[in-house]
Amino acid sequence: MKKPTGRNRRRSTLGAHVAGRRAGQRFDAERGVVTEALVFLGDLDPEAIGENLAHATHYEATPVRDFGRLIAHVPFALNDATFIDLGAGMGRVVLLAAMRPFRQVVGVELSPALTAIARRNIRCAPRDAFRCRDVRIVCADAAKYSFPRGPLVVYLYNPFDAAVLAPIAARCAAQRRPLTLVYHTPVQRAVIEVLPAFELLAEEPCGVVYRLVQHAQA
Ligand SMILES: C[S@@+](CC[C@H](N)C(=O)[O-])C[C@H]1O[C@@H](n2cnc3c(N)ncnc32)[C@H](O)[C@@H]1O
Repeated sequence: MKKPTGRNRRRSTLGAHVAGRRAGQRFDAERGVVTEALVFLGDLDPEAIGENLAHATHYEATPVRDFGRLIAHVPFALNDATFIDLGAGMGRVVLLAAMRPFRQVVGVELSPALTAIARRNIRCAPRDAFRCRDVRIVCADAAKYSFPRGPLVVYLYNPFDAAVLAPIAARCAAQRRPLTLVYHTPVQRAVIEVLPAFELLAEEPCGVVYRLVQHAQA
């Protein structure tokens, strides 16, 4: 097989990006929601956000197909687990997780404007597609959010830099319960990988999945 040249690689990355955007637009149109967007928090509601605005990335939704690829690696039953999207944006991942049999699905979002859009999306999305009945969006800084009880799936789509991620990762590492960390576009993965409590469970082109080793048998 011919090795892809730099230009071919760029073309195929661009092709995948365009296909991902189309799939995102289709996802929105089929459900009457708005999640496909690129938004910089500084252009939206900077005055309503606290000091962690400086550490936040922009809003962009997880490509629909990537979510399925990553979530397939969760090593425990979903029905007594809570799924938490730290940096939920307009709620694409919350909607996708709600279609799985989680006990609870929570989106935590820093921006009040994005929170309002996510809540509207959850109200508008067809209920019959939901397999989880307890779906909510909390407007909060992920750094200050307390995890609910029970097994957890913590999802991150590159929401913030290492300054915010490091204490959250340490808090996850200190949990004494099954916890899977799903990290899409893991720009700060070194922050997770220095913590011996985490074991790399799977690696996909779009992201990585870790579990807490003390609960490996759970
Ligand atoms: C790349 S988007 C991901 C959106 C969504 N999770 C998804 O995958 O479709 C990152 C989101 O994280 C939010 N965010 C950044 N810092 C945050 C923080 N400290 N607490 C909560 N949300 C934060 C941003 O406002 C943005 O909506």
